[in-house]
Amino acid sequence: MAGFKAWAALSTAGAALAAGNAITADGTNFTMTAEGMSYLFHVDPETLDLTHDHFGGPTDDFIAPANVDPNGWVTGLSNVRREFPDIGRSDFRLPAIHITHGDGSTVTALLYESHEVMDGKPEIPGLPATFGNSDDVSTLQVKLYDNYSDIGAMLSYSVFPKSNAIARSFQITNNCSETIHIERGSSFSIDLPNIEDLEMLELAGDWANERHRVRHPIRYGETGFRSTTGYTSHLHNNFFALMPSTTTESAGEAWGFGLIWTGSFQAMAEKFSNGFVRVLLGLNPLHSSIPVQPGETFYSPEAVGIYSSKGLNEMSQSFHRLYRNNLSRSNKTFSTRPVLLNSWEGVYNDYNASTIERIARQSAELGISLFVNDDGWFGKTPYARVNDTAGLGDWTPNPDRFPNGFANYIDTATGYSVANASSRDLQFGLWFEPEMVNPNSTLYHEHPDWAMHSNNYPRTLTRNQLVLNVGLPEVQEFIINSVSEILDMGNISYIKWDNNRGMHEIATPAADYNYMLGMYNVINNLTTRYPDILWEGCASGGGRFDAGLLHYWPQSWTSDNNDAVDRLSIQMGTSLAYPLSSMGCHVGEVPYGLTDRSTSIWYRAHVALMCGSFGFELDPAHLSPDEEAAIPGILEAWEKVNPIVISGTFYRLAIPDETNWPAVQFISEDGKTVVVFAFMQKPMVKPAAPPLKMQGLDPAARYSSDGEVFAGSYSGATLMNAGVNLQWGTTEFQSMMFFLYKE
Ligand code: DGJ
Repeated sequence: MAGFKAWAALSTAGAALAAGNAITADGTNFTMTAEGMSYLFHVDPETLDLTHDHFGGPTDDFIAPANVDPNGWVTGLSNVRREFPDIGRSDFRLPAIHITHGDGSTVTALLYESHEVMDGKPEIPGLPATFGNSDDVSTLQVKLYDNYSDIGAMLSYSVFPKSNAIARSFQITNNCSETIHIERGSSFSIDLPNIEDLEMLELAGDWANERHRVRHPIRYGETGFRSTTGYTSHLHNNFFALMPSTTTESAGEAWGFGLIWTGSFQAMAEKFSNGFVRVLLGLNPLHSSIPVQPGETFYSPEAVGIYSSKGLNEMSQSFHRLYRNNLSRSNKTFSTRPVLLNSWEGVYNDYNASTIERIARQSAELGISLFVNDDGWFGKTPYARVNDTAGLGDWTPNPDRFPNGFANYIDTATGYSVANASSRDLQFGLWFEPEMVNPNSTLYHEHPDWAMHSNNYPRTLTRNQLVLNVGLPEVQEFIINSVSEILDMGNISYIKWDNNRGMHEIATPAADYNYMLGMYNVINNLTTRYPDILWEGCASGGGRFDAGLLHYWPQSWTSDNNDAVDRLSIQMGTSLAYPLSSMGCHVGEVPYGLTDRSTSIWYRAHVALMCGSFGFELDPAHLSPDEEAAIPGILEAWEKVNPIVISGTFYRLAIPDETNWPAVQFISEDGKTVVVFAFMQKPMVKPAAPPLKMQGLDPAARYSSDGEVFAGSYSGATLMNAGVNLQWGTTEFQSMMFFLYKE
């Protein structure tokens, strides 16, 4: 009972309370409390190590730790649930922090020194992070010190009570006389108890196939995934959830973890012989080895942990709430986003001034508010961007494409009046890919060393391009200046910031971390300088759909796959961690190029309307008369639904991976309006469609239908417990959207 003795000896003196009583420091017993979650840990009075006690539903007391048989090979800290495990002192599991000292040795002893509780939350220098005032968040900072080496650490815990969320990060300060290296750093690290039947849910995929749900058991040993691409990537998102196998969308416990970071990362759950599960989320050790000079401090990215006792929907809703209110700093986060038409899939790189002006004019005539000129507007002969082999890096408009001048072109486009919108002129948006360079460019010929490379090894091309080393201050300055020059040229309301390849020649492991600091500096600078521009992130579709970039811009392009059937799964997967308001979703042409599939304009619209940034991605000249006739109705639907998507609460009612009848629901912020999107993928002779049961309604209230799909008024209890039977027809890929109003 050694563990119990240590626990029982804890001090209980002098509780210090932060605002809202969200953090209690009772001696060195720390309790963080949210509306439906508690997180408890303490300092072991004998070892001064931080010991984890609880992350789950609300609790009031510290309980004795599990009784692990201390005999045998696995002893000491290996049988303790820890907060910030380092290397040595008897723990065989993966460390959260791994440091190489100046002499090459790697053992550390980071032990409790002091702590402080404060209202609000300090910023993390140079890194995107959650924020909030004293009503939103309180912070506990715990200092650790390694007396053998003079390395200091500070762990930061910020609790957001309304979102059942804890945001964690750490700092390492080098007080030694030699440079140390951070080889591994997990921003969130926690040892869960033995939860039998624990599963991991992750978002895996590829280009045009992003963020599909993959759920699998946690086995003994390591279960996890990582990005080695230098970026978040399409392959794995830096989010995952853990839950017992019985947890569903609407019931059961779930723990969600998300990293506020855009570089390579590693996510890991390590189940040990005693059943404890160590959860680690942070930097990818392959792209770490980050030098910290004497006197310097290293700052880790921040990670978020969220607990839900009501299934995955509640976990997602907490992520959405936290990311919208306490991560996204854009002034557009809670605004409806203009309906846009993006030129990419309509004309790709193949256009001239009259084609593109015609598309802009037709967009306005259709009642679309924002025209986005995608790729292809820049570069001069011989490096004109007329296809993807040249031009990246040369951010000057192509004089052959725009013989009357680019400013003049922007003026023309923004002079078109939007149909059915009295006194509204078309807004204009532009595509950039600032972090890249084509070898066929003036920039590359002038600055070949600005491209990421490793000595004289070949520079691997992907899509005919190289990655600029944004870690270099001169590259940061170049990007800020060249983007600003264009933005100052005319009335530009929107920027799509693309990034179309991963990193290959990462010369040193730390180059990825440095790149990210440089990239955040550039994006912070530009979004601060141009706060009224609507910024959208993009990376060959959704390759950088992450919380790091969502700090700076309010939305991200979700996928290059605009096939509405595929999109439904991609959007549902993305919604596990990211708010629907942050997704860009467009209606494409049919048959769709990637899949050769045709779906009706309304099916495509319904899939895209569930996202915050709704639009079209086609050449209006290709619209059939029926499709064109549908557009006013679609814009009317957008008008009603977009405010609810932007700030409402989202529910996955049925997911396409599990049913032929997927459906989602939003409830407006004031609880008075409910909107449901329902789909039928293929007609089936048998079985009948299951009743569509709504969630989150007031059981005692009555809701009247808008009459679009069914008539009448029903109690919340009926709609949630009996549901409604939608009358599907006999063609494939059908969709319905209906509103219910609380009486
Ligand atoms: C990849 C993006 O995801 C597309 O939407 C488009 O902008 C192309 N790049 C342009 O090159």
